[in-house]
Amino acid sequence: MKILVTGGAGFIGSNFVRYHLLACPNDEIVNLDALTYAGNIKNLDAVIGNSSHSFIKGDIRDVSLVDSVVEGVDSIVHFAAESHVDRSIDNASQFLETNMLGTGVLLEAAKKHRVKKFVHVSTDEVYGSIEDGSFTESSPIRPNSPYSASKAASDLLALSYYATYKLPVTVTRCSNNFGPYQFPEKLIPLFITNAKSDKPLPIYGDGLNVRDWIYVDDHCSAVGTVLKNGKSGEVYNIGGGSEKTNIEITDIILKKLGKPESLKTYIEDRQGHDRRYSINCEKIETELGWKPAYSFEQSIESTIDWYMENEEWWSDIKSGRYMEFYEKLYAGRIADASKRE
Ligand code: NAD
Ligand code: DAU
Repeated sequence: MKILVTGGAGFIGSNFVRYHLLACPNDEIVNLDALTYAGNIKNLDAVIGNSSHSFIKGDIRDVSLVDSVVEGVDSIVHFAAESHVDRSIDNASQFLETNMLGTGVLLEAAKKHRVKKFVHVSTDEVYGSIEDGSFTESSPIRPNSPYSASKAASDLLALSYYATYKLPVTVTRCSNNFGPYQFPEKLIPLFITNAKSDKPLPIYGDGLNVRDWIYVDDHCSAVGTVLKNGKSGEVYNIGGGSEKTNIEITDIILKKLGKPESLKTYIEDRQGHDRRYSINCEKIETELGWKPAYSFEQSIESTIDWYMENEEWWSDIKSGRYMEFYEKLYAGRIADASKRE
């Protein structure tokens, strides 16, 4: 089977490429990625030179490029997106462009070339926040950030291509991933790498927001399962069954690295900050027989170890231009928080 993976130089995409080439060595992967600030060719070191993998630097909004790349592929696994909530709050335009328009370009090409399977990688954030209980696949979509609204639009657009054209689309909605190669702007890699360098850990608001954490390999195996056996027109929630507050995550990282509590720095809250994400994953478990294989405790330990052993990977990134966005974000918010006291 020839599979087009979009966004395969990003965090989850690169883990998926590695995972899938091992799990299904007879498949061929074409990897299309624009190498934005979040894409990194070094994430693919382990598969560069593998004859079953080819990399194309290109944009999913490029209609003629996408048309030529999609011709002849059997399946598409669509990861490419702008993925960071804080950046979407700062400026939503790239999120609308990539997540909505880019997905539209891919769907059109998939329709034209009669692709046999289109897995659209969506997120649990499309459901919005929930105080008690958990969202099922039939819960209403109520996204709260420009990021999650753009993902909700692409998720619904993908499903509309099944309803309208019978394009064999399946949507996955996964919870918060962590693991190797995650861009150090997201909570877990940011806090691990800041703590290692004795820098403050910026906790938004009261730190009691809850996320359901899943190890990235479990997300990859779930996407692989959906690619093989997922039903067209269906949505599958994917979760790790491991809900934690941000303070719990912070404490685990500080303890493992032997760093002081004084690194915890409470700052102005994220605007529109969703309080709790929680999803019910019975559907993928009962219908497709998938379950997470890794425990949170085991995989957070190995993830922290990975960042300790791969400092060159993240220190290169953190010394680059991505820091301009963060210096602006945190400087303003720490100042605002101190004004309120
Ligand atoms: P990421 O930001 O690490 O990677 C995104 C990749 O997409 C990068 O390699 C980037 O270069 C590429 N890309 C961005 N715009 C592009 C464009 N216009 N054309 C081609 N390539 C482009 O993101 P991630 O965390 O790996 O997330 C991957 C997908 O999974 C996203 O769709 C995200 O919404 C979804 N998701 C993420 C999580 C999570 O916890 N990280 C959870 C659920 C779902
Ligand atoms: O739920 C799935 C989603 O998880 C994905 O769709 C997104 O692509 C992914 O980025 C992630 O979104 P979150 O906003 O939940 O992840 P983030 O790592 O940005 O934040 C996790 C929590 O930690 C959230 O409550 C905000 C908080 N936080 C985050 C950062 C970066 C902090 O307190 N301080 C920080 O510096």
